[in-house]
Amino acid sequence: LRVFSGNANQQLALEICQHLGQPLSPLEISRFSNDNLFVQIQENVRERDVFIVQPFTEPVSDHIMELMIAIDALRSASARRITAVIPYYSYARSDKKDAPRISITGRLIADLLQTSGANRVLTMDLHSDQVHGFFGIPVDHLTAIPLISDHFSRHYDLGDMVAVATDAGGAKRAGRFSERLNIPMAIIDKRRVSDTEVKQGHVVGDVKGRDAVIFEDEISTGGTLISTVNTLAKAGVRSIHAGAIHPVLCGAAVKNLSAADIETIVVTNTVAVPEDKRLAKIHQISVAPLLAEAI
Ligand code: R5P
Repeated sequence: LRVFSGNANQQLALEICQHLGQPLSPLEISRFSNDNLFVQIQENVRERDVFIVQPFTEPVSDHIMELMIAIDALRSASARRITAVIPYYSYARSDKKDAPRISITGRLIADLLQTSGANRVLTMDLHSDQVHGFFGIPVDHLTAIPLISDHFSRHYDLGDMVAVATDAGGAKRAGRFSERLNIPMAIIDKRRVSDTEVKQGHVVGDVKGRDAVIFEDEISTGGTLISTVNTLAKAGVRSIHAGAIHPVLCGAAVKNLSAADIETIVVTNTVAVPEDKRLAKIHQISVAPLLAEAI
């Protein structure tokens, strides 16, 4: 078994290797003067079971290209089986044709991974479960919901806690979280206006005087989270926390979240959070043991 990593989250790949008790295998990634990428596998992988870790984080297109080129190189080097370990599959949000003349890019990338030579995909908490079906190769779809719910049950008083889904689409996910904690849940009526703006209406469920935990798949621009904090404050909650799997934290997310009336934000490390984006209220839990076990 060999584990490689692209540039997207080497720290996570190293942690996975620590759990597996083996070193991270070497891979060279460089760029030619004309901006083309060059990837070279730096050890023999003939007939090996190979894993390459690469979440789709910024710069997303570069990281996807790195992964595809590496998979192709592994295939040319006669690896027996190649598993793309993609803890965060960002294009999962492009999972339907909800406007004319657009691409379902989540499916396109799935096709391209298979064409590159991936035999299997290991991923976590896809934006919607049906994205799994975009792949013509086996997909192991893991979830970090138990890691985050265990954190809340260990460190918080669940007595008056309510799990909150920011929209109807996230109700299933927040429902799984609330079931594990045996707490009630509420759902907010949400419309997306643009990439960075959402509008929320009624809260369905009892939140007044309670400790709310907003539960999300990802925090991207933070727009949904901040809007939900405002909606819940108006609805009279006592305190607000959040749990989310993928801390994408793009644009002004960190600046806006630091000012928001939210006590703690529990996330995983599927996406690396650079030093300058680490807020005291953001707590990261490692998914490395989970991924190592699946490998
Ligand atoms: C939306 O459907 C998702 O579940 C998240 O709410 C969304 O991706 C978060 O994006 P942002 O942080 O940019 O509002």
